[in-house]
Amino acid sequence: MPSPLLPNPDAIEHSHSLFKRILQKIQQSHGFLPFDAYLETVLYTPGLGYYMSGTARFGREGDFITAPEISPLFGFCIAEKLIPVLTTLSNPVILEVGAGTGKLARDILAHLEKSKISLSEYWILELSPDAKARQTKTLAPYLSKIKFLDRIPDNTFEGVILGNEVLDALPFSCYEVRGGQIFERGVGLEDHTLCFITRLSAISPPEGLDLARCPEGYLFEICHRLSPFLQALTHPLSAGALLMIDYGHQAHERYHPSRSLGTFQCHYRHHAHDNPFFYPGLQDITAHVDFTAVMDALALEGFSAIHYQTQMQFLIENQIESLIQIPPTPEQRNALRRLLLPELMGESFKVVYGLKH
Ligand SMILES: C[S@@+](CC[C@H](N)C(=O)[O-])C[C@H]1O[C@@H](n2cnc3c(N)ncnc32)[C@H](O)[C@@H]1O
Repeated sequence: MPSPLLPNPDAIEHSHSLFKRILQKIQQSHGFLPFDAYLETVLYTPGLGYYMSGTARFGREGDFITAPEISPLFGFCIAEKLIPVLTTLSNPVILEVGAGTGKLARDILAHLEKSKISLSEYWILELSPDAKARQTKTLAPYLSKIKFLDRIPDNTFEGVILGNEVLDALPFSCYEVRGGQIFERGVGLEDHTLCFITRLSAISPPEGLDLARCPEGYLFEICHRLSPFLQALTHPLSAGALLMIDYGHQAHERYHPSRSLGTFQCHYRHHAHDNPFFYPGLQDITAHVDFTAVMDALALEGFSAIHYQTQMQFLIENQIESLIQIPPTPEQRNALRRLLLPELMGESFKVVYGLKH
């Protein structure tokens, strides 16, 4: 890591407090901390985790940039997609999960207002107190419509559930294939340093993984929380739709034998790397989403017409070109490139949309 990118002394102190917490957890779990428990600690420990302490930084100055931060065109296209379903419902709400800085919500609300579509309320389900504070600022003109939720609603509702880059932020487990067997990778300690350790696992290979074709040392991840999370989230939806955007693949691509290094990545100040033990709490750690598992979970919750496409296809289908001014401004031209080009976000990001009646 180049030295100008190293954290300042306060940040190092912060990371050290989290490091002590991790050591306790390793001890409590008899020397083997499962990787999803490690992620829960480094990302979501109240006051210390990456998303829970004000260290998560989206945007140009931060660790990574998400589509809503690139351009309002992204939110305008999502609003275009949602208009047909919102207009069929009598009292619709939008429930956005993990709303980041609130820019996506702001752009969707602006586009719905301009299109004269009425929305009962815009709900935001967010774990991070720091993100909530930022959302309150960004959404100042719309606060009468916004309701912050602390948990998934108990009562049924009609509308749309929405999330951009949320599923990849759920803690996941890591595995390695050796001698035709699956080993779980957890976190241990060697010479006072965090490191990967392994133990034999009893899990069955996920759909799409053919153990016989995996090269020795093949690495992969499974997000065991994905299906329970999606099912709990969508259960109260009585009618409407779900739209989730994230980077990922269907199972046969995600678990292809040639993807032997797995998909997890760490993001620190726009540097992607593969060391999850670099300054715990100061960097984001994510893995690609298994969209086959997403679609299976939606089918179990009664969704139909489940549609999967690339971000490029989705944005083109939802009129991104007609939403830009002619001639496009330099910012719009740059945004189109980043959002649409296959080698940038256009193909690695996927969109899943499903309807519930
Ligand atoms: C990578 S950020 C994406 C933020 C935003 N959607 C964007 O596109 O800029 C992931 C967000 O999801 C939130 N998050 C993760 N798990 C969540 C959960 N179970 N419920 C609600 N929010 C969650 C995090 O706090 C964080 O704000």
